[in-house]
Amino acid sequence: MYRVAVIKGDGIGVEVTNAAMEVMRAVTDKIDFVEFEGGFEVFKKFGVPIREEDLEEIKKMDAVLFGATSTPFNVPNYKSLILTLRKELNLYANLRIIPDLWRDREIYIVRENSEGLYSGVYRATNERAIDFRIITRGGAEKIARFALGLAKERNFKEITFVHKANVLRGDRFFRKIVLSLAEREGIKVNEKIVDSFTIELVRKPWQHKVILSENLFGDILSDLASIHAKSIGVIPSGNYGEEIALFEPIHGSAPDIAGKGIANPIGAVLSGAMLLDYLGLDGWVIWNAVKSYVKKGNLTPDLGGNAMTVDVVNGIISELEIDPIEWDELWVDEIRINTLPTLFMK
Ligand code: NAI
Ligand code: MG
Repeated sequence: MYRVAVIKGDGIGVEVTNAAMEVMRAVTDKIDFVEFEGGFEVFKKFGVPIREEDLEEIKKMDAVLFGATSTPFNVPNYKSLILTLRKELNLYANLRIIPDLWRDREIYIVRENSEGLYSGVYRATNERAIDFRIITRGGAEKIARFALGLAKERNFKEITFVHKANVLRGDRFFRKIVLSLAEREGIKVNEKIVDSFTIELVRKPWQHKVILSENLFGDILSDLASIHAKSIGVIPSGNYGEEIALFEPIHGSAPDIAGKGIANPIGAVLSGAMLLDYLGLDGWVIWNAVKSYVKKGNLTPDLGGNAMTVDVVNGIISELEIDPIEWDELWVDEIRINTLPTLFMK
């Protein structure tokens, strides 16, 4: 049995996480879901977005499924729960999958998640403020290995590496590490300078399979690339550490539609698929079911339909493929008992 921590969060975070668990339960019985409270409500009671003892419990789990929380930006001392978790669980790699569900293609965006300009190291005086853009050998190697490993696993021959090494020392250092590891793995590196690459990412996104970048560039590029998925509601993501990984749809708590039952559950459901893959279970079954459902089923309003969340969940579940082994046995039996005689009678 695997133990998966669940933090549903606020607004549609609750609705889509319930949806994801329902689909995952239909695929496997090997997961125990353990719920934890987190977010702004917890902060109001305890002064932290998640309780210390809960955090310690979560660290012992195999993975985390996260919905979305509301992060008010006018409350002093409140730090967003997802940022807290990324730091506390040492989640160094962020993978966002931009799917084109109708044409069966994806862009994998790998963003370094703990260093660069967001490492939190700064110096500020009355006269100036400096944020240090830290890139360490260890950090660069880990994220490069992650992106290259992903490319290998999916049979891609190259990755796109986006940087500004013509200007930035840190990216020059990062680049050397990426190129040397890629050579060792036999994977080609398609190098792009970040500013001009934005135009390419708008115009011809699908020729890039795996895009690797440091923290700030990756943050901006992954949001930009999201426009190619038709709705923010269908995009899943994973945050990976060495001990544990956390999966969440990229959207927020969507207060404008919360409670109406019309949130698109696909981003959360696919995050569940990524979680199953991470545990070595059958995430692909969910991907296939989602793809076949969207081609014929009624969709939620963000995708132009008038379906409710629950309709999409039921639709996806009805598209889940039966385990191929059971299928074969069933089929063989049927042929033996019913079909074969009639075939031979002709
Ligand atoms: P949002 O992603 O919640 O919503 C943006 C727009 O997209 C809204 O019109 C919403 O209705 C729509 N949308 C989002 N997800 C959808 C789905 N699954 N199905 C259908 N439509 C969907 O971003 P917004 O409005 O900027 O933020 C709302 C709250 O969420 C804020 O408090 C923000 O801090 C928080 N947030 C939390 C995140 C997280 O927990 N990881 C990420 C982004 C925002
Ligand atoms: Mg962002």
